[in-house]
Amino acid sequence: AKSGPLAGKKLVISAGGTREPVDPVRYVGNRSSGKMGYALAEEAVRRGASVRLVSGVTDRPVSFGVDIKYTETALEMFAALREAVKGADALIMTAAVADYRPEKPAVDKIKKGAEGLDLHLVANPDILASLQGDFIKVGFAAESRDLMINAVKKMTDKNLDIIAANDISQPDSTFGSDTTRLTLFFKNGRVEELPLLKKQEAAARLLDEISGLL
Ligand code: C5P
Repeated sequence: AKSGPLAGKKLVISAGGTREPVDPVRYVGNRSSGKMGYALAEEAVRRGASVRLVSGVTDRPVSFGVDIKYTETALEMFAALREAVKGADALIMTAAVADYRPEKPAVDKIKKGAEGLDLHLVANPDILASLQGDFIKVGFAAESRDLMINAVKKMTDKNLDIIAANDISQPDSTFGSDTTRLTLFFKNGRVEELPLLKKQEAAARLLDEISGLL
């Protein structure tokens, strides 16, 4: 059996970005690196948790001791997480889920023409808002302005216990960076401003807080 402060706890973590197909060769995607989610998964394993990582697209190497399920689109990630949260103690959603997907991906490769191309997008479901249950819910928010107002609104709308907000207008706290400057907002109103930290250290601080709620 595993030992450590999170022994016996089941954590579900999502990481990376989603890819929404346009045709068999193109997609709509984003710049998520997956570093924060993988760092959380590794740190949680180190603390004895059983970890299910639902990974979108990333170039991160597989982490030892982490049970990884790879997904590509938001809908695939949603299906995988719906299964994964059964019996979970906490869900930590670091994935950058595409808000929109092409309505009807072309079956054949789209040929170029002289005119432009209109791409019609439809909304993806909000995974974190939709998944409800007897587990701690933690979300991430990347904001370029009005950090507190936007983060607290998301915490309420998605019914979260904690939201980790990240000011992406700062060059040291952005997509792909090894460091991050997180502000944690708690359901009870507490605010914890973390300094600039390596993502591994930020993961440790966030897990300390989550452990306190479990
Ligand atoms: O609303 P916004 O995308 O800024 O919220 C970010 C948080 O919600 C992240 O934790 C992200 O993983 C999650 N999310 C989600 N499904 C979406 C969009 C975001 O679970 N469709």
